[in-house]
Amino acid sequence: QSFRRLEYQPPNYTFRHVELDIALDPARTIVKSRIEVLPGASHVDQIPLVLQGQELEFVSLRIDGEAHKHFELTPETLTIHSLPRGGKEAFIVEIICVCYPEKNTTLMGLYVSNGNFFTQCEAEGFRKITYFLDRPDVMARYRVVLRARETECPVLLANGNLIAQEKLPNGWHSATWEDPFPKPSYLFALVAGKLECIEETITTSSGAKKLLQIWVEPHDLPKTRHAMDSLIASIHWDEKRFGLELDLERFMIVAVSDFNMGAMENKGLNIFNTKFVLAQPETATDVDFANIESVVAHEYFHNWTGNRVTCRDWFQLSLKEGLTVFRDQEFSADQMGSDSGRAVKRIEDVRLLRQIQFPEDAGPMAHPIRPDEYQEINNFYTVTVYEKGAEVVRMYQTLLGKEGFRKGMDLYFKRHDGQAVTCDDFLAAMADANQRDLSQFKNWYSQAGTPHVKVEERYDGEKKQYHLNLSQSCTATPGQPQKKPFHIPLKMRLITEQGDQAEILLELTQVNQSWTFDCINQRPVLSINRNFSAPIQLDFDQSQDDLLTLFSHDDDPFNRWEAGQKLAMQMILENRLPDQKLIEAYRELLLDPNLDPAFKELALTLPAESYLYEQGHDVDPQKIYQARCAFRHAMASELRMEFAAIYQQMQTPGPFKSDGVTAGKRGLKNFALNMLLEADVSVWVPMAVNQYQTADNMSDRYAALACLVNHDAKPAKSCLADFYERFKSDPLVTDKWFALQAMRPPLELAGSTLNEVRYLRQHEAFKLNNPNRVRSLIHAFCMNNPASFHQADGSAYNFWAESVLALDPVNPQVAARLARALDRWRLFAEPYRSKMHAALERVAQCNTLSSDVREVIVKALAN
Ligand code: ARG
Ligand code: ZN
Repeated sequence: QSFRRLEYQPPNYTFRHVELDIALDPARTIVKSRIEVLPGASHVDQIPLVLQGQELEFVSLRIDGEAHKHFELTPETLTIHSLPRGGKEAFIVEIICVCYPEKNTTLMGLYVSNGNFFTQCEAEGFRKITYFLDRPDVMARYRVVLRARETECPVLLANGNLIAQEKLPNGWHSATWEDPFPKPSYLFALVAGKLECIEETITTSSGAKKLLQIWVEPHDLPKTRHAMDSLIASIHWDEKRFGLELDLERFMIVAVSDFNMGAMENKGLNIFNTKFVLAQPETATDVDFANIESVVAHEYFHNWTGNRVTCRDWFQLSLKEGLTVFRDQEFSADQMGSDSGRAVKRIEDVRLLRQIQFPEDAGPMAHPIRPDEYQEINNFYTVTVYEKGAEVVRMYQTLLGKEGFRKGMDLYFKRHDGQAVTCDDFLAAMADANQRDLSQFKNWYSQAGTPHVKVEERYDGEKKQYHLNLSQSCTATPGQPQKKPFHIPLKMRLITEQGDQAEILLELTQVNQSWTFDCINQRPVLSINRNFSAPIQLDFDQSQDDLLTLFSHDDDPFNRWEAGQKLAMQMILENRLPDQKLIEAYRELLLDPNLDPAFKELALTLPAESYLYEQGHDVDPQKIYQARCAFRHAMASELRMEFAAIYQQMQTPGPFKSDGVTAGKRGLKNFALNMLLEADVSVWVPMAVNQYQTADNMSDRYAALACLVNHDAKPAKSCLADFYERFKSDPLVTDKWFALQAMRPPLELAGSTLNEVRYLRQHEAFKLNNPNRVRSLIHAFCMNNPASFHQADGSAYNFWAESVLALDPVNPQVAARLARALDRWRLFAEPYRSKMHAALERVAQCNTLSSDVREVIVKALAN
């Protein structure tokens, strides 16, 4: 079944007030609802009320206090006929039903994790808790009574404010919560169980006092400080940057170890994957610390961009997700504390976009940031909707300026606070607040595919003129053979020896457009798409000398990094080693005392294999892998002295600090260690072992272990065993242990990584029903270890097929994510392509596939 954006119909009925009474029992939870129903805007007489419900046991229905017999049940709906007064005036619906949290392995709706109750309702999980109009444009006020046995569930949480607590007979108790803000059902949440919290009271901009809490299992309490600090920083940032204040008296975050995604912004009761809450220097890496900060911010920022103003329908998902990712990116950049720190954050975000979103945009699941069609909405929580969506929001800011963007945001909230709206409404607010015509900009919402911009330049020394010609194109994507031109903001600067040309903004709106620059006294070097001002692919045959100039001198740190990537990419794709000029440029950069360590690390990190694949066709993954390894080996050998010096200089003695600068030093130090082992394993293994053994933090310990494992060093085996024993009681660290082995590159001496993964699949600590564990082994191998996954015998593709089929009945969302590992099968050379195709066919043969997995597989196989 397919859903289409243009088939949107407003609801026939809306809900004003919802009362829920939930008696929590892991085996059978009884849910009673009392809903005040109003006729919808365009009301027609005698239209039945169609509620959604899934995997529920229906018990009873009353309308206006009377038992009601005029209804029909299907596996997915409850249709109520013969409504009082033809349904033209308000009436009350009361439903009793039962759900089974303990049996729920999908982790949508109400489920049990480690004996505690949690919910996940976005996008369509509420219908697994009770029959409802489970769509985001139906917004109601909720009052929730939770009941449970007090010994099993001492803590009872729901959205909003706690208004009553009561002791009940037989050891039960109850808590009543009221949320003052109308909300769609996808923002409903409850949590119950044996949890404890840290709390903090803060004063927000209006002078109001607010209670902040982070709830976790008792033994995890010492790991909550960083999340709390991140939350407080987020609250202050949103006040300062956007004038947005926390609107609730109480804001809670709860951590759960079984969770499909990163986290969820339920009103006043955010629920998080433990991975994005828990951190301590001994168990979390610098990357974990940074991720926690950004996910905490992301969910907090949803309180305005998502909750106060929500989506009319799920096609509009990027309205809240693209905007909120943009906001969390800006927050994290500001937290870096310097311009070069900001650039580091920008580079990391662009790397992710290119490694994952560009392939998505070029593959069978390509969709615009506002999709037109879906079969399973869970498949559209994608890097396109999120990360490309954030790039589109960033382009408004680039076009309108920071102040203009703020004006647009202010108008957006003024117009739409409390409403469920569309991406068009957001664009209209941006346009109207700035009196700009943004009609062409809409193409970013409707067209899939990464636009290509071709650059042609010519310098006329006699006339002292520089001519620039830009032309844009975008290849066909499923359902979209022809594309209209995009409105593309391109920051550019002509780099001259005099430095006399300022940065300007070009707006490419035509298919083909030219500019002439006068009084350019010498041939300049073009720096374009600075700071990655548009999410495009540049086709520009810039000479190696020009790229070297940019790599060494561009004042835009992003483009400086970009030039280095291009140089390395060209050489790797041509199977060449870095030449002496490039090595010298690397050396100079490494030794430059004015550059941020984190920037240096990024500048020397080679483009990812998945991005290299996208540059060609008939891709041979093993050839690319070999070329990339050889290039890196040459780099390491040539720069071994510098890396040895850096390893010493970048030590961070003293008490552990997780800030960006210190983390950047650690990162560069560990990058240097890896390069030293790359240059000469036998010499540097003892140092890596020593670092592994003496580290006082996880970043250093894990990096040292990774060096040993990835370079096939003798002590790798014993260190891996030691690591497991040390941390086996900590699930998040155990995930790292699995992931490290799943991502091991193909090595001569060790057995195949696939065999190792198959072995680990049977390990006592492996669990197919825990998404983090599954992702740390199976997804890590199939999606983050291309060189081991793409073996010519196709054996890993068979493992993939088996894994998808095994996971699907347990958790279709997690299975569907894994199913996407073969999306780009047509890009590869033989025998890879045929073997991937066969594996896809094998999964397609299964006639009990979930709609989630089926959509992915059918689209992958379609022409
Ligand atoms: N809104 C959440 C976030 O971006 C993601 C929840 C998605 N959940 C899902 N089951 N698809 O923070
Ligand atoms: Zn989000």
